[in-house]
This record gives sequence, C-alpha cells and structure tokens, in this order.
Amino acid sequence: MLADARGRPLRSLRISVTDRCNLRCRYCMPEPNYAWLPRGDLLDFAELRTLTAAFQSLGVSQIRLTGGEPLLRRDLPRLVEMLAGLEQRDLAMTTNGALLAEHAAALRGAGLQRVTVSLDSLDAATFRRLTGRGDLAAVLAGIDAAVRHFPTPKLNCVVMRGSNDAEIPDLIAFGREHGVEVRFIEYMDVGGATEWSRATVVPRAEILNRVAGAFGAIEPVVRRDAAPADRWRLADGTVFGVIASTTAPFCGSCDRSRLTADGTWYRCLYAREGLDLRGLLRGGASLEDLRRAIASAWRVRADRGAEERAALGNRGVLADRAALQADPRLEMHTRGG
Ligand code: GTP
Ligand code: 5AD
Ligand code: SF4
Repeated sequence: MLADARGRPLRSLRISVTDRCNLRCRYCMPEPNYAWLPRGDLLDFAELRTLTAAFQSLGVSQIRLTGGEPLLRRDLPRLVEMLAGLEQRDLAMTTNGALLAEHAAALRGAGLQRVTVSLDSLDAATFRRLTGRGDLAAVLAGIDAAVRHFPTPKLNCVVMRGSNDAEIPDLIAFGREHGVEVRFIEYMDVGGATEWSRATVVPRAEILNRVAGAFGAIEPVVRRDAAPADRWRLADGTVFGVIASTTAPFCGSCDRSRLTADGTWYRCLYAREGLDLRGLLRGGASLEDLRRAIASAWRVRADRGAEERAALGNRGVLADRAALQADPRLEMHTRGG
C-alpha cells in the first residue's frame, strides 16, 4: 500500500472537471468574475482517463467529480462512461443541483454511482442571496431527480451564522421527508471565501445542540471509514452528518487528494503547491512515469492544512484577492470544494 509520510493511504481523488460555476455561493466564489484557467490547459477526457487509471493503479478506489459545477462540463456523461469503464469501485459527483434534473438519468446510465447535492437554504429568497443567482425550484427538481435515479443521495449544507443557521431543523426535516442524508458543513476559510470570519462559523457542538433542541436525543453512528462526516441518528432513525473541518479537522486520517481541471494535483485542500501532471502528460510521460511521479509525491506528503489553520490564533482567509488573481488554483472552486 502506498502511504504518505504520516502513514495515510492514497485512496480518494477529487477531480475538478471545470473551474466554472453557474452559481456564486457566498462561501465559495462570491465575485462575478474570476481569473479562469486557460481553456487550452483543461485536460480532455482521454487525459482524465489516463490520469485516473494511473491513480487507481496506485490504490485510489474513490473518485469524485467536482467543479466549479461539474455539470457545466460539456458531455459529462461521456466522461463518466469512460471512467466507469476503468476498474471502478466508487464513482461519485458533488453538484449544486441546478442542472441535475436534466442530466441525472444520463449520468446514472453512464455509470455514476453516487451523487451529493449542495443545498444551503429552503427559503427561495435566502437561497438566492446565498448563491448569488440560484433558483431554489431548479435545485429542488435536481434533488428530486437524484432521489429517483440514485440509491443514496446526500445533501451538503454549509452553515453560516446569521444566514441559514436557523434552518438546521427544517433541513433535517426535508432530508427525512425525501430520504436523503443531510450533512452540515462548518464554514471553512478557503480560497475566495472572502467573508469568512470565525464568528460566522457554527461549530459542530452547536449544530448538534440545535438538532437536539428540535428533535430530541441524538446518538452517534459508529463510523467505518475516513469520510469527513461524523454521522448521527435521531430517535426516529433519521441519520444526518456533520463535517467539522474547521473546529475538528480530520487531517490525521485524510486519504484524499485533488486534481484541478488543468491537471494540477494537490495533496491537501489548503496546499500552496501542486504537481503539474498536465505538463508530464503532454510532455509524453508513460503510465509508468506518471505512476512514479505520483507515488514519490505521495510518499513525502506531510500536509495537515486544516489542523494548521485551526491552530492559528488570528485566522483570516487563506489567500487574499491579489494572490488569488495570480494563481486561481488557490480557489476552493478550482480545487473542487
Ligand atoms: P463522501 O465520500 O460521500 O463522504 O464524500 P465527501 O464528503 O468527501 O464529498 P463532498 O464533496 O460532499 O465533500 C463534503 C465537504 O467536506 C466539502 O464540502 C468540504 O467542506 C469538506 N472537504 C472535502 N474535502 C476536504 C479536504 O480535503 N479537507 C477538508 N478539511 N475538508 C474537506
Ligand atoms: N466552507 C465549507 N464548505 C464549502 N464548500 C465550498 N466552499 C466551502 C467553504 N468555504 C462546499 C460546498 C460543496 C462542496 C463541494 O464544498 O458546499 O458542497
Ligand atoms: Fe459553485 Fe459549488 Fe462553489 Fe457554490 S459551492 S459557488 S455551487 S462551486
């Protein structure tokens, strides 16, 4: 097994297929415009398949397609089909759901196994405010399609104090009604989340208190994996998750890495430097060359970005505007959320 400098295996790869998004979530990419990755730098489907095969041969068993918004990538079902054709154990996607109603059936047919949809509010006006331009009805239709076509869809909700924290019980009720597992995510100080402040983070303990206040006793669900979510169960059996990346980072068991749409490979969500796999690929590297480059970079990986951030006394956003303009790969939406 390929392990990093802290003994963590390489198991999960998040592939960002585009840095573009049709929404402008306040916690992710609030600006109207960004320094986008040059089109010619985007990996084509054959390149993505080659890299995915290299990663899988080194032990990666979980692939998650992300963005920006992955459904903005033209012909995404064809990519899914190509990746599903590899020796594939887990192929998932995280989407904002706005375009999911039209694509869910094709994605499932192409071999996508799991889908997670972001949903930060059930109130149309709040939803529009939080997402810049989002239409709640379209996303609800997307969630409906996810439920019809996929076995166990999940919802991601980034909790922000004063914006949507009062909706925690409503979101749980929505998840229960639709048979989807809701995961509340602590607001993280990543990339372009320019309005992040410690005060807007609602810590896991408080999220749990609010759920307990509305629904009574909750008990932990015993966990089996390195997934970021702690899972909890209500008395009626409803299960929900909390991703406490800000107050209780899971770096110690982090087996994930991420590939940007232009083929830069990051070994931590907070990493400053990535490995230029596009350059290797386009320079004629063989599968064995790629494997060797990836393996030697993973072996020396010592990153624990979220823990280091949590240890900072005075914590602001990760990168300021000038740094983000100079290197768009520092953005959360470029490295796959
Ligand atoms: P599952 O396999 O379904 O558990 O997927 P997932 O939870 O990894 O996927 P998803 O895209 O839904 O990610 C959920 C949230 O976890 C993201 O929105 C981030 O807030 C957080 N997250 C994802 N990757 C990382 C990471 O590498 N480090 C940290 N600290 N947080 C992450
Ligand atoms: N903090 C926490 N989660 C975030 N996401 C994007 N930006 C942030 C942030 N600043 C989440 C989205 C999406 C996932 C891919 O990343 O909610 O579900
Ligand atoms: Fe787009 Fe997702 Fe970022 Fe929202 S969180 S702006 S939907 S990439």
